[in-house]
Amino acid sequence: MTPPTYKLPPGPRRSLFSLRALKDFLESDRDPLGFFGRYRQEHGDLVCFQVPGQVVMLVSHPDYIKHFLVDNGANYSKPSGIIPILGNGLLASDGEFWLRQRRMVQPAFHQDRLNNLFPLMVDSIQRMLGRWEEYAREGKPVEIPQEMLRVMLSITGRAAFTQDFIEQPGVLEGILKHNQIIHHRSPLAVRLLRRLFRRPPPSANQMREILEGLDERLYALIRERRQAAPAEPQNMLDMLIAARAPSGQAMTDKELRDEAANIFFAGAETSMSSLTWTWHLLDKHPEVRQRLRQEVSEAIGDRTPTLEDLPKLRYARMCFEEAMRLYPPAWVLGRQAREADTLGEWDVPPGTFMMTVVYHLQRDPTYWENPDRFEPERFLPERAVKRPRYSYFPFGGGQRQCIGNNMMLMQATLLIAMTARSYEVRTVPGFPVEAEASVTLAPKYGLQATIHAAPPIAMPSLASGT
Ligand code: HEM
Repeated sequence: MTPPTYKLPPGPRRSLFSLRALKDFLESDRDPLGFFGRYRQEHGDLVCFQVPGQVVMLVSHPDYIKHFLVDNGANYSKPSGIIPILGNGLLASDGEFWLRQRRMVQPAFHQDRLNNLFPLMVDSIQRMLGRWEEYAREGKPVEIPQEMLRVMLSITGRAAFTQDFIEQPGVLEGILKHNQIIHHRSPLAVRLLRRLFRRPPPSANQMREILEGLDERLYALIRERRQAAPAEPQNMLDMLIAARAPSGQAMTDKELRDEAANIFFAGAETSMSSLTWTWHLLDKHPEVRQRLRQEVSEAIGDRTPTLEDLPKLRYARMCFEEAMRLYPPAWVLGRQAREADTLGEWDVPPGTFMMTVVYHLQRDPTYWENPDRFEPERFLPERAVKRPRYSYFPFGGGQRQCIGNNMMLMQATLLIAMTARSYEVRTVPGFPVEAEASVTLAPKYGLQATIHAAPPIAMPSLASGT
């Protein structure tokens, strides 16, 4: 039988061992955003890279993205994950198993459940602000990513396990070390040689130790909650323990461990980097900060916010949405075609690797005026409805859309509002702030900032002297 011939979109065709293929490879490794941006500019919204054995398509049109994420999403599988701590939980699993697990985990993220978490979110943020009082007094630089990680994991830990998991000895250090290892990139040549000689990276033992330490704690929690067996679930883990598949099956301890770890960690890196960017952007834009503080003052004044206040903190939420537009933590999404498909006039052979660079769509001048400008007002509902759905998708889309998106928007809005009311976060002068597209799109060197008591808000009525 003759192999089928496919009509493939334009793009570079490289033979595997050519110099151009090597050059491309090195460049995409060193500067992926620049590399894929150039290919899109040269070849358009659908670019096909073909190296022997693998077809890769770079998809940059909202309709095409919708096609492979949503309309024909069932035909596209998720390439297996690379984050050891997450095991075979929702983020990495695929197919029937993923669907079964997603259905069992989803109820833990139901809006009513999230609403119940509101007081706990306020409390964790207040604890952070308590620490910041001291930082403001001392005037010493603070690592903002770590602060954000700590407060976010305090919330997810308490939501998932009813205890501040992150404050247990060794947990925060373990996670920071785990992240450091997965971010650490030795020079490409060293990585290739190690792979060639099947040598594990020097960090493999450290990683094993970290995972063993965390696993021990997670399994202890599972045992504890199984024994407690409350009549009504008290936390997300209780809900997972009580969940049943349509066949009546419950999750095994290993499945519970993986899904609990996903609830706890899957959003850790992404929330840390999006909130860090938010503080940096707010520091650079005093007019936005002023408007934000005005809103907070009108919505909640000096009192503790309640769930009913949340819709009034619209500008705080827009600041976060805009920060995720400029710096989408999940800057690239990928899928693999199970069966042959078509996209517009082009063929998609089975096995094709589809990728979309979220970062480029979210800064595309076709959909965004002055795309590099920080302008939260873009997210006013009347402006947002004019854009195609897949010009903005920091949480992905289709059936694999982030399960934590509503929880994240809620806690980020609250954190930004409560913090901006009391403090200003000022990036240390001269500190290099540079985006690095690695596991997430994070500031390459982190962000060191000093914390300052916010000045009193000038109410418009007083300012105008009336
Ligand atoms: C700013 C914060 C966050 C961002 C930008 C983000 C982004 C994403 C994206 C883009 C995906 C889909 C990946 C793909 O399609 O390949 C995803 C999936 C996921 N996220 Fe998030 N996420 C965030 C916060 C969270 C939080 C707070 C949690 C948990 C409490 C969470 C848990 C998950 C899980 C479990 C999945 C896998 C869902 C599935 O495939 O069924 N994320 N996230």
